[in-house]
Amino acid sequence: SFGSPSPAQQVEPNYEESGVPDYSLPDPLRFEAGGQVNHVEDWLERRKELVTLFEKHVYGKSPDWDGELHAETLFENPNFLAGKASRKGVRLHLKRNGREVFFDLLLFYPNTGQPVPAFLGLNFYGNHTLASDAQVPVTEAWIRNNEAMGSSGNRASEAGRGKRIPNWPYEAIISRGYGLVSLYYGEVDPDFDDGFRNGVHALYPEERRNEASWGSIAGWAWGLSRVMDFLESESWIQPEKVAVLGHSRLGKAALWAGAVDTRFALVISNNSGCGGAALSRRKYGETVARINRSFPHWFAANFNQYNENEAALPIDQHQLLALMAPRPVYVASGVEDRWADPRGEFLSCVAASPVYALFGLQGMPVTAQPPVDEPEMGHIGYHVRSGGHGLLPYDWEQYLDFADMHF
Ligand code: GCU
Repeated sequence: SFGSPSPAQQVEPNYEESGVPDYSLPDPLRFEAGGQVNHVEDWLERRKELVTLFEKHVYGKSPDWDGELHAETLFENPNFLAGKASRKGVRLHLKRNGREVFFDLLLFYPNTGQPVPAFLGLNFYGNHTLASDAQVPVTEAWIRNNEAMGSSGNRASEAGRGKRIPNWPYEAIISRGYGLVSLYYGEVDPDFDDGFRNGVHALYPEERRNEASWGSIAGWAWGLSRVMDFLESESWIQPEKVAVLGHSRLGKAALWAGAVDTRFALVISNNSGCGGAALSRRKYGETVARINRSFPHWFAANFNQYNENEAALPIDQHQLLALMAPRPVYVASGVEDRWADPRGEFLSCVAASPVYALFGLQGMPVTAQPPVDEPEMGHIGYHVRSGGHGLLPYDWEQYLDFADMHF
């Protein structure tokens, strides 16, 4: 199940600080050829090197979008929440060379009559889990089996309706003046290893899988960029104020989306852990080897070269956070979510901060991990909340404060 190591993994994960190996992190402010990055102009060049390294060694390279996007309105309710808000469903059709893939967006926004900033995030169990009424259809795409979410035989059902509203508190989000856009990640790319043939990969049949092909995380991130393409034409939203967020594997996807697509003005990682915000070299909780074995379709095949060989990685995950600079980025951990290495997520924020300093901005305001439930917010935000793995109302409160601070 989510959030726990598979039983096939014999060796216990390391959960002791004393078991963390000595390591030194690659410097975000040093060119591969050795020169120092001294100015913002240098950084823009260095940034390209880092994106290329992450593409080649970690996530795989996504294709440039050269197809056609068509938005079909499925339903629209301008009197949602007793008229305080609007809710609508939009199906995004992606067409390329006679092939088509579609995914459904669920959009909520306050009826303020003014364009608003918004949060955008992929969800785990279908848009109907964010709705208590039948207007939002149950997804027909492949879905992970989960009794509590009403899915079995890899099909969703009515039993899942509304089950994820606590994790997507749209009423609170709307009352703070923000919109919310969500979509089901399995419609963008089903989360199983099929050799990169289904989901958005199906639009690029000429791309055979190679060592640096785009994995599912890159596919989900690429889908978020297509949503952004659409949002740019929506009148209710301020497209220059879109915060992309995700939980866990979808937090990894949100970070990669923010790294490659600078239209995302703010980026939020909720418990993203290994391959997300956490430093790979710490080998604490989930490791590169573990994640590659459990989820062979998530990353570029090249990432396997670093199984039990983290020191050889040309990058580490603090450099992924640094790719957001100067845009704000927030990293959230759960104190009991040791699998995702809360301390490694925090240290990643600290190690990304010199890049913000280059812009004259404060990244992470502190160098010691803050106590539980005491958020710190510079241009990098961080909290470790009580409890375990999950996207909770407490997390949303901090994201709303962080967005208020920066938008
Ligand atoms: C597993 C996986 C993590 C991932 C998590 C999730 O626990 O090992 O890397 O973040 O699932 O997506 O919930």
